[in-house]
Amino acid sequence: MASLSHSTNFPIIISIILFFATVLIPITDALPFIVLHGISDKCTNRGVTQFTELLSSWSNSQGYCVEIGDGSWDSWTMPLLEQTSIACEKVKRMSELSQGYNIIGLSQGNLIGRGIIEFCDGGPPVKNFISLAGPHAGIASIPFCGCTAICTLLASLIKSEVYSDFLQEHLAPSGYIKIPTDITDYLKGCRFLPKLNNEINGMRNSTYKERFASLQNLVLIMFENDTVLVPRETSWFGYYPDGAFDSILPAQETKLYKEDWIGLKTLDEAGKVKFVKVSGSHLKILKKDMKKYIVPYLGDQASSESTYEWLSRLWYCLTKAIIDLNEDQHLLLTTTY
Ligand SMILES: *[C@@H]1O[C@H](CO)[C@@H](O)[C@H](O)[C@H]1NC(C)=O
Ligand SMILES: *[C@@H]1O[C@H](CO)[C@@H](O)[C@H](O)[C@H]1NC(C)=O
Repeated sequence: MASLSHSTNFPIIISIILFFATVLIPITDALPFIVLHGISDKCTNRGVTQFTELLSSWSNSQGYCVEIGDGSWDSWTMPLLEQTSIACEKVKRMSELSQGYNIIGLSQGNLIGRGIIEFCDGGPPVKNFISLAGPHAGIASIPFCGCTAICTLLASLIKSEVYSDFLQEHLAPSGYIKIPTDITDYLKGCRFLPKLNNEINGMRNSTYKERFASLQNLVLIMFENDTVLVPRETSWFGYYPDGAFDSILPAQETKLYKEDWIGLKTLDEAGKVKFVKVSGSHLKILKKDMKKYIVPYLGDQASSESTYEWLSRLWYCLTKAIIDLNEDQHLLLTTTY
């Protein structure tokens, strides 16, 4: 008899789980998210598409890659202020985002993401910002070259002219190249990062700080073997001190943090900043790290704390067990910065 009752109970249990699982999907009511890709990349590339789709399915939330212009070419040549204002108009027009949304930034896309948060008047509210390899405190070398002779020459030409009107208007990365030994020209000529980071004395805008400090979570992911971002600590808002290349200040020792120019300190002291280090080179995130460090922030905080939370976890574990097969593959294999 015992074995008989077993065999009849099993399908019932499954039905109950499935019933709650079906009911649960609308209950989780996860917020949508947008993905902002890096330089040279575009939304239709396989890496970005797959990245967005996987996160969508793991988190049960809708994900959208937001494109600016034609993608790859414009990501190089359109000034970041202009890219930000295009992205701002796009998110304002997306009715799906009107109740709030999360942003995932890839490399240069992080600066556009932060631009949306800080500059976008009347935009829908941003809840969580998940940053992968973001050059938040600037970069000190041209990211695309390597060390062939031509590249070195090109890089040094660009470096000496990086704060000229011409490059500021025609080369997107010039908006966040910060040469530690040339801070005066940087503050005077660089049109994007000094504004985004509220770096200019007398021109700091408290609205930017208020908006950035209102995030629920800021997840800053640094890649242990990132050689594209110089220094890689810029992913955590760490940078060289003004005037020297010989050491790197952790975020907490920079003026941006100590004087709380953009609200990073406010967020950190409220426990809302997660400093995450993952293995791998630039943007080569493993699926297991995506699940561990990104997926948990893609739900709405308030509704995930409902009484259904344990069920939501159960559902997550069930689906995870099914999806976990290709665990250690790299996803973003395209040459994105
Ligand atoms: C600060 O930024 C806000 C939002 O863009 C803008 O409305 C305001 O005029 C700016 N304030 C100053 C002093 O520039
Ligand atoms: C990655 O970085 C770690 C720590 O900095 C180092 O020990 C390791 O050798 C690096 N791996 C590669 C492949 O460069």
